[in-house]
This record gives sequence, C-alpha cells and structure tokens, in this order.
Amino acid sequence: MPLGYTFAMIKPSACRKNHVGPILAMINQSGFRISAIRSTKLNKEEAEHFYEIHKEKGFYDNLCEFMSSGPIIALLLEKENAIEDFRTLIGNTNPCMAEEGTIRKMFAESLQKNAVHGSDSVENAKREADYFFNERERY
Ligand code: CMP
Repeated sequence: MPLGYTFAMIKPSACRKNHVGPILAMINQSGFRISAIRSTKLNKEEAEHFYEIHKEKGFYDNLCEFMSSGPIIALLLEKENAIEDFRTLIGNTNPCMAEEGTIRKMFAESLQKNAVHGSDSVENAKREADYFFNERERY
C-alpha cells in the first residue's frame, strides 16, 4: 500500500489543558510520522474557511467561535492508510460514543471540544493540509 497522509488538528480546548504532549505521543506510537507541525491561532474568518463544508449546519457559528478561541496544533501525518487509521485512533466524533483507548475518549470534553480533528477523505486531507502547510514546511 502506498504511503498516505492525513491532516489533523489539536483543538484549542486540548491545547489549553496541556494534552498536546500525550496526544502527540499516541500519534507517534500508532505509527504516524509527523511530516509537518505548527502551533498557530486561527481568527474567526480562518476557522470559517477551514470548516466551510459545514457552513449550513446549525453548529457552524459556535464551532468557528470555539476554533478561533485559542492556539491549535496543525499536523500533517504520514502513514499507510493514514486517513482511516487516524480516524480509528481518534474515535467517534462524539466522545460519548468513542471507544476506550481512543484520543477522543481520553481527552475530549464534548462533541465540539472533541480534542482533535482528522480529515475524512483524500480530497479534504489535501485541501486542509494545503491550507496550513506549503511545500517547504513538509519533510
Ligand atoms: P471535527 O472532526 O473537527 O469536524 C467538524 C466538527 O464539528 C466536529 O469535529 C465536531 O467538533 C463538530 N460537530 C459535529 N457535529 C456537531 C453537532 N451536532 N453539534 C456540535 N458540534 C458538532
């Protein structure tokens, strides 16, 4: 299987609670290579752009408010079958339904503050990674 990549983000709530180190360790221990990493803070417009595929949803405004409330960690992760394997590692979007041992089960506070984001398709992984990282930032 060819190497694939996915885009991930550690959300403001998990950064605020000092969960960045343990989450990165779990990502590495699960066989992902960190190809690019950046700590940054989105403004509201940037969060709206990032989550534009959800703009018709009722939770969109609140989600963008939250995602621009503090620093995030943006990650480009490389592994075979990266998109699917990362979604398995993080668990269900709703932490109440996430399996034991998943990142969201361990570190999420709520559906919105669910610790991490992971791309759900090749197309979105490309779009999201390109939004954060240029070629010179990927190794
Ligand atoms: P994420 O993987 O970042 O992708 C979109 C986010 O929207 C999702 O995680 C959740 O944080 C949030 N989300 C999805 N569904 C709902 C919902 N029903 N109510 C509030 N937030 C939601």
